[in-house]
Amino acid sequence: MAGQVKISGAKNSALVIIAGALLCPQDCRIRNVPSLVDVARMGQLLSSLGVKISQHGDVLDIDASDLSTSQAPYEIVSQLRASFFTIGPLLARQGYAQVPLPGGCTIGARPVDLHVRGLQAMGADVQIEHGMVNAYVAGSSRRLKGAKIYLDYPSVGATETLMMAATLAEGETVIENAAQEPEVVDLANFCNSMGARIRGAGTTAITISGVPRLHSTDYAIIPDRVEAATFLVAGAITNSEISLAPVIPDHLTPAIAKLQEIGVQIVADAPDCLRIVPGEGLRGTDIKTLPYPGFPTDMQAQFMALLSLSEGDSVITETVFENRLRHVAELNRMGADIRVEGNIAVVRGVPLLSGAPVVASDLRASAALVLAGLAAKGKTTIQGLHHLDRGYEKLEVKLLSLGARLQRVTGAIVSPERQLGVNNPTVNSYQ
Ligand code: EPZ
Repeated sequence: MAGQVKISGAKNSALVIIAGALLCPQDCRIRNVPSLVDVARMGQLLSSLGVKISQHGDVLDIDASDLSTSQAPYEIVSQLRASFFTIGPLLARQGYAQVPLPGGCTIGARPVDLHVRGLQAMGADVQIEHGMVNAYVAGSSRRLKGAKIYLDYPSVGATETLMMAATLAEGETVIENAAQEPEVVDLANFCNSMGARIRGAGTTAITISGVPRLHSTDYAIIPDRVEAATFLVAGAITNSEISLAPVIPDHLTPAIAKLQEIGVQIVADAPDCLRIVPGEGLRGTDIKTLPYPGFPTDMQAQFMALLSLSEGDSVITETVFENRLRHVAELNRMGADIRVEGNIAVVRGVPLLSGAPVVASDLRASAALVLAGLAAKGKTTIQGLHHLDRGYEKLEVKLLSLGARLQRVTGAIVSPERQLGVNNPTVNSYQ
């Protein structure tokens, strides 16, 4: 493989920013929006709330001036956890919101207690019954009140929910021990472009001075740092020269540092362009996932695939989600040598992986199996592509453009020897 690949807009920014448009009584234009299953579902959710929404390529026009309801339908929320991001904007804008509890997913229980506790601190009456979160602001203004909120854990979602809710609150809100992820900063910049007054996003303390209303905007989303890092690993695991653009290198610091540590060379050809240079054998290393700026949990599986082919041992500790090592069994089916004890995986490097039929359990696990398949001898067949399409825009098209030999046929992809094959009889179960 070799060549240049275009990095799409960030999924984890797009989802929360689209929900954030609910804060605005005027129309918003959002650019660099990736075409993903999850983004389409968020669009459906907004339409069900009475929002007018249209997409032209990677540009989304949203008009939330006329909300018909503040109740998010279970059918959509049950398919998209990120739907819960609507609770903050709806409560702030309308004074009430009814959003189904998102429930857990394959990587963990994923409670929303920090979101709820923060909204209660801002004066909301929040009742959870029959799987529904009912939030309501009493009083004539129906406006939330500014508050000082300390998060027990720097949760990305809770920081984003409370930041959005506080934009229209009366008075000042301070979120302490806040998440510092680039997507949190992107959301803050989006809200500020609509007239919000948010300071300190990207640090552990965010201050929001509430304003009575917001105005229209035209905003472009940041590039996807997880997609970019996934392609860096694709280059390393196949020893290929790949250039990626646009990227924001700072957002990739932990991934780049680990790649360099194991012997990979990465060059910045331009402020928004990185190139990975083929090198000799890779060494093992230890990785511990942490909130940003620590090593991202969303890159753990992909690095595990890479380290399974590196010399020596690597210890990978997943600290963010309690059930995010399910790809280990599938990598071991391909000849990797990985042992798991609780949230720790000990990876003993092997010289070669061999192609095999495997099943993806979640979004990043599916990316890891694609990467392992690219490096494996023989054909790899991956089931569970619906996970992949939730978070990667046209991954196989981009890989094909780099020279990977793979094909998707009727939801299935079959490939010749040595290269990736994706065959998924269950693909038809896509919603
Ligand atoms: C966001 O999820 C991302 N999703 C995830 O990306 C990412 O893995 C995660 O942040 C961490 O970086 C989106 O932005 C849509 P958290 P989120 O709240 O907001 C616990 C991907 O692959 N917690 O920071 O749900 C929680 O259970 C996805 O693109 C509580 O206990 O993550 C978890 O263990 C996967 N109570 C930890 O905090 C709460 O109220 C981190 O969760 C909230 C969270």
